[in-house]
Amino acid sequence: MRLEIDYLLDTKAIEKDDVRDVVNGLQSTPKSIPARYFYDKYGSQLFEQICDLPEYYPTRTEASILKQYAMAIVKRTRADELVELGSGSSTKTRFILDAYKDMDTPLYYTPVDVSGSMLETTANNLLKNYSKLKIQGKVATYDLAIEQLSTYSLGKRMIIFLGSSIGNFNAEECDRFIQKVTTALNSGDYFLLGIDLYAQLYPLGQKPIEVLEAAYNDASGVTAAFNLNMLQHLNNRFQGNFNLELFKHKAIYNTEQNQIEMYLISKENQSVTLDSLNLNIEVKKEEAILTEISRKFNLLQMKEYLDKNSLNLIETYTDDRQWFGLLLCQKV
Ligand code: AVJ
Repeated sequence: MRLEIDYLLDTKAIEKDDVRDVVNGLQSTPKSIPARYFYDKYGSQLFEQICDLPEYYPTRTEASILKQYAMAIVKRTRADELVELGSGSSTKTRFILDAYKDMDTPLYYTPVDVSGSMLETTANNLLKNYSKLKIQGKVATYDLAIEQLSTYSLGKRMIIFLGSSIGNFNAEECDRFIQKVTTALNSGDYFLLGIDLYAQLYPLGQKPIEVLEAAYNDASGVTAAFNLNMLQHLNNRFQGNFNLELFKHKAIYNTEQNQIEMYLISKENQSVTLDSLNLNIEVKKEEAILTEISRKFNLLQMKEYLDKNSLNLIETYTDDRQWFGLLLCQKV
């Protein structure tokens, strides 16, 4: 048997955290909703559509870097186990799996995702294409998966975290996450991190703000639908009465924080109820609810940060325009 899936989610504990965070966020000033509320079934489909948008350069750029350098990465690391945090459809990961296939080398692939159905479908498809692959998936949050990873070893491990998903964490969450990741690596193991860049090394300069903002304000309105769907998700989950027509999508680049900020802006004064939470909130006309930060990075600052956290940067892969970086690190 080449497929095993561990179901680690404790649905009761998750429900409790979800409720706590949404109540806290909506009762804070300014209001916010955790970004993980984007990803119900419809939201996950919209995200896949975002990845194909002409304006959304990160996915395409990262894929092209992986396509070009996957073999170099595999030859350099020769990992026995490839762990992917937030594996989704594993589309970009196929470039790495292709390299193993071309070298006729067996591999344990450990996809980690909170969506069990997504993980099952993806794993079964991969097994058809890669005959030497063994899959040990985990339906889990990052935290739960990492805890379990610390308890076993299948040989040399490489953990990958793609798509600049790390950009969703604020500085404090990022510290906590990186420290956790290092606990799941032995000395000599690898970490491959994909990051969206705002600044390029000399002499290329800054990425144009228009490029950054267009990626989150696409002409066809998919990102707007993705953002608004969060309210529909809350309605479904907590018997809410958010009227999606009374909110509009906004995404701006904050040049001081080097991050995209996504908001839902209220078109009117309104009150909203989430019945199953016994929660009622007042929202003012033009009031903004923060739904996501997407931090952007620069290569030098990220190198220092990783080095400081016992993750020695050993190779940086990027595209011609230096719009996206793929950083290969080795645990000290
Ligand atoms: C999956 C968090 C990397 O921040 O670019 C895409 C999510 N939000 N469009 C990002 C997202 C709006 C994406 N990450």
